[in-house]
Amino acid sequence: MRLSVVGTGYLGATHAACMAQLGHEVVGIDSDAQKIAALSAGQVPFFEPGLPEVLQEALASGRLAFTTDMAAAADADVHFICVGTPQRPSSYAADMGQVWAAVDALVPHAAPGSLVVGKSTVPVGTAAQMRDRFAASGAHVAWNPEFLREGHAVNDTLHPDRLVIGVESPTDEQTLRQVYRPLLDEGVPLLVTDFATAELVKVSANAFLATKISFINAMSEVCEATGADVVMLSEAIGMDPRIGSSFLRAGLGFGGGCLPKDIRAFMARAGELGVDQALTFLREVDEINQRRRRRTVDMAREAVGGSFRDKRVAVWGAAFKPDSDDVRDSPALHVAAALHTEGADVTVHDPRAMDNARELFPHLAYADTALNAARDADVLLLLTEWSDYVDIDPEEVGSVIGQRHVIDARNALDPAHWRAAGWTYRGLGRPSA
Ligand code: UGA
Repeated sequence: MRLSVVGTGYLGATHAACMAQLGHEVVGIDSDAQKIAALSAGQVPFFEPGLPEVLQEALASGRLAFTTDMAAAADADVHFICVGTPQRPSSYAADMGQVWAAVDALVPHAAPGSLVVGKSTVPVGTAAQMRDRFAASGAHVAWNPEFLREGHAVNDTLHPDRLVIGVESPTDEQTLRQVYRPLLDEGVPLLVTDFATAELVKVSANAFLATKISFINAMSEVCEATGADVVMLSEAIGMDPRIGSSFLRAGLGFGGGCLPKDIRAFMARAGELGVDQALTFLREVDEINQRRRRRTVDMAREAVGGSFRDKRVAVWGAAFKPDSDDVRDSPALHVAAALHTEGADVTVHDPRAMDNARELFPHLAYADTALNAARDADVLLLLTEWSDYVDIDPEEVGSVIGQRHVIDARNALDPAHWRAAGWTYRGLGRPSA
């Protein structure tokens, strides 16, 4: 089939390359000429393991091309809308500017009978509005939310847990079945719904994941007050299959370009719909998440004796999670910036996210290696659990650091190992000795 993919960020670039891998002819379209030039040259403008290989293979097959020209979408049977929906600067709601700009640009080129498929995360009701905007062109609309995680984008796209499609006609369902035929043949479950359900599946999935993380982080607060250990608690409750152990890692909490803004946009939309009470608990989810960041700063202050004046702090991790260079709403950088504001001399290291971090927080200091960040520091904070940090020898770090104090805000290090090497180890929600 001939597909266009409008928007070539994390979602669109991955989707375009993977659809070409499935055998479709794909054109990726974006208004950012630099991004298009990089992708055309086989370079992924962000860090996503495995994606460069899939992209280069797809380009070499001749089935994938990139352009800034929306007219290139004219031949496509199916158009995927993959643009971003960030939080608005002055409210909780989603900024739909990119979505409607993409729609306006596509309307003149969408052929009658072609199918426009929304994948962006949007407020419920968007698909119906979009259908009305395309009505005159004769193009149909469907909704097909995306569940990929950064760092696992290729695998999540080619081997998803499920496919969800919101459609208004059996023909549109058939079109999408054809797009995803290889996945369906492999047994990936397909759920066919109306527009509103498909849109809500996405936001409610992210709201549930955020809630699960904040639940275990709330338990962390209780553990800190009682001397209990949240890591053991999480392991124990996670063994109950009704609860499940994934997304139950207590620590600094969630960040990134999705969970934080999605729960806020969901609350804003619920307010518009008159059901804000249904989601007031998400305010608490957000608040618990923010409190973990403040708690981490408090623990660092305690470790250096009550004030950051003339104190050096080493921060390991800037990305919002490991295996990503994404620093959008990164808990790690939030904490690093807060420490700096309190007067600490902060040096940050991250294996992949240094350029993005520097762009966002140019006033922080950055070190080229984890050891150099730790050199002469009064306390070390592990804020993103990259395996490079988890595997490091505490003796080696101990030989360069000023004071052997470590705060493991991701509960990723082995406390016994670090304590045996003479470190004062503090984890979030864990006993202090
Ligand atoms: C999330 C969802 O997991 C995807 O299913 C969804 O498609 C995506 O948002 C999206 O809406 O586009 P992602 O933002 O890539 O994916 O990251 P996650 O792996 O979900 O991690 C989110 C945050 O939660 C990270 O900061 C991570 O450190 C934190 N986290 C995760 C925890 O603090 N504890 C956990 O147990 C798990």
